[in-house]
Amino acid sequence: MDATTLERLFDAASRAAEHAYAPYSKFYVGAALLFDDGAIVTGCNVENVSYGLTSCAERNALFRAISERGPGRRIVAVAVTNRNGAASPPCGACRQVMSEFVTADAVVRFPGKNGPETMRFAELFPRGFTLDSQEGPAPR
Ligand code: THU
Repeated sequence: MDATTLERLFDAASRAAEHAYAPYSKFYVGAALLFDDGAIVTGCNVENVSYGLTSCAERNALFRAISERGPGRRIVAVAVTNRNGAASPPCGACRQVMSEFVTADAVVRFPGKNGPETMRFAELFPRGFTLDSQEGPAPR
């Protein structure tokens, strides 16, 4: 993944963060996904007064991408940013959801404690849940 492409992806995430709806936490997140056909799809976090119904920027970007383009393409890079100047690696739920659509070498860029961090998705989320058996539980 070349630096210019990752920078473009980061810019797209920054623009998405401008749309964040976060009146409760006041933490404004943007995410951008780069697919293997070159398409970039963005999302921002959308909060709700119930708190629990809040949806993260990364998952909103992913669900938007699948809704608009179908499930056939793989994610090759992810950029996350926030308007708060804080560290924000993708949360565990978003990692699990993204794991079904990323390539093995997908690159993830996010704000770390000491500036931007970049790592492979496999490093960020090494042991995701998979459904290896379709047989259901043993009878009681
Ligand atoms: N949030 C994200 O959008 N992505 C993450 O990976 C973690 C957290 C949002 C959810 C909530 O609106 C706000 O950040 C504070 O948790």
